[in-house]
Amino acid sequence: MSLTGIRFLVLLGDGVDGAAIRAALPPTAPVHTAALHDAALRMPVILEEAAPDVALVASDDLNSMIGVIRDISSREPNVPIAVLFGGSPDNGFVGAAFEAGAEDVIVLPQPSDELAFAIEKAIARRRGPSQGALAPMIAILGPKGGTGKTLTACNLAVALANLGHRPVIVDIDLQFGDVGLALGLRPTKTIYDLAVAAGDLDADKVENFVTQHSSGASALLAPTRPDHAAAVTISFLRKVFELLRGQYDFVIVDTPPAFSPEVIAAVDSSSHLCLVGMLDVLSLKDTKIGVETLARMGYDPAELTVVLNRADTSVGIAQGDVELLLGRAPDILVPSDRAIPKAITAGKTIVEEEPKSGAGQAFSDLADHYLKEAETAQAAAASTTEQQAGTTGRRFALRRR
Ligand SMILES: Nc1ncnc2c1ncn2[C@@H]1O[C@H](COP(=O)(O)OP(=O)(O)OP(=O)(O)O)[C@@H](O)[C@H]1O
Ligand SMILES: [Mg+2]
Repeated sequence: MSLTGIRFLVLLGDGVDGAAIRAALPPTAPVHTAALHDAALRMPVILEEAAPDVALVASDDLNSMIGVIRDISSREPNVPIAVLFGGSPDNGFVGAAFEAGAEDVIVLPQPSDELAFAIEKAIARRRGPSQGALAPMIAILGPKGGTGKTLTACNLAVALANLGHRPVIVDIDLQFGDVGLALGLRPTKTIYDLAVAAGDLDADKVENFVTQHSSGASALLAPTRPDHAAAVTISFLRKVFELLRGQYDFVIVDTPPAFSPEVIAAVDSSSHLCLVGMLDVLSLKDTKIGVETLARMGYDPAELTVVLNRADTSVGIAQGDVELLLGRAPDILVPSDRAIPKAITAGKTIVEEEPKSGAGQAFSDLADHYLKEAETAQAAAASTTEQQAGTTGRRFALRRR
């Protein structure tokens, strides 16, 4: 696994070298740093601001750490805590740290590459046995409006459902989301209703606000009124994504045409990114900006899936020009098809209405593409778990027994 896309909370005791810890984390990673003594007083606020995927607690003084570890662990049981300890760890300390809820104890100082490796393992270990593997999450992106993001999200979900999988679409186009319309679903309960519902957010609660589609796909629909969008916060979205990844086979996120905070949160939480562009100069220019923006956020352009919609349109742009502009070939070409707007008007997908058409086939190919990616990721995760199980003679990372 890599640390890319993970949000860190780093709590530093007095005298700890924060720069060395920062150097072990990806340069673009969101890192929220706070003083350990401050965390002891303001933990709820710090956790709310940081919305961490992992917490690193670093100090030379074990007494100052134990209470903080226990506090994080009880408030955010899904957030792995790695303890970075600058003193000499006796058995009593290690046991106390694990009992308080730490995932790993890493003895400082460490070269930054080894520290990064130890942190990766702490996260992988927590995600592995205790949480089970999280399902792939695919963010469907496109900085320009009307390129076919919603079309892609809905058809991908239905194609995966047709193959016997359980996908869920999350519509985070919070003001103008139209997944419900495209799938012919009535939005009797939406993500807004979930956000304002009383009680703790857990998997059962989320399930109550998900709408079923006849294909077997599910959808968490966008608010029905634009003014409801504000109720859906970033930290809420992060939790919803994680809960859905634990419940479904695929989480597909339909996004608005912008790199808004919700979209960035979805990108950060996703395992896969799918960029949808159209074959015209303006759209391709925006797609190129999308690729560049994601590259600046730390995502390798080669790892994106690129869908080129209306790819057969005769506008004087050759395939070679597209590759030159984007710096890579598209993965999936979707032709223009008059049956698509007709199907949408009827609240149907082209995969249901005309599965053998060029567009229907293209979306089935996209589903196959992600099934293969999921298989590869599963095989890699299994081999990592095996390697970890067989690891002996660890030099510095002390494992929970
Ligand atoms: N390949 C195609 N052939 C014919 N019509 C298409 C095709 N792709 C998209 N359309 C039409 O373009 C419209 C916009 O598509 P869609 O809603 O999926 O775009 P979007 O990227 O989600 O837009 P927004 O950015 O506004 O959310 C749809 O109503 C659909 O009818
Ligand atoms: Mg849309």
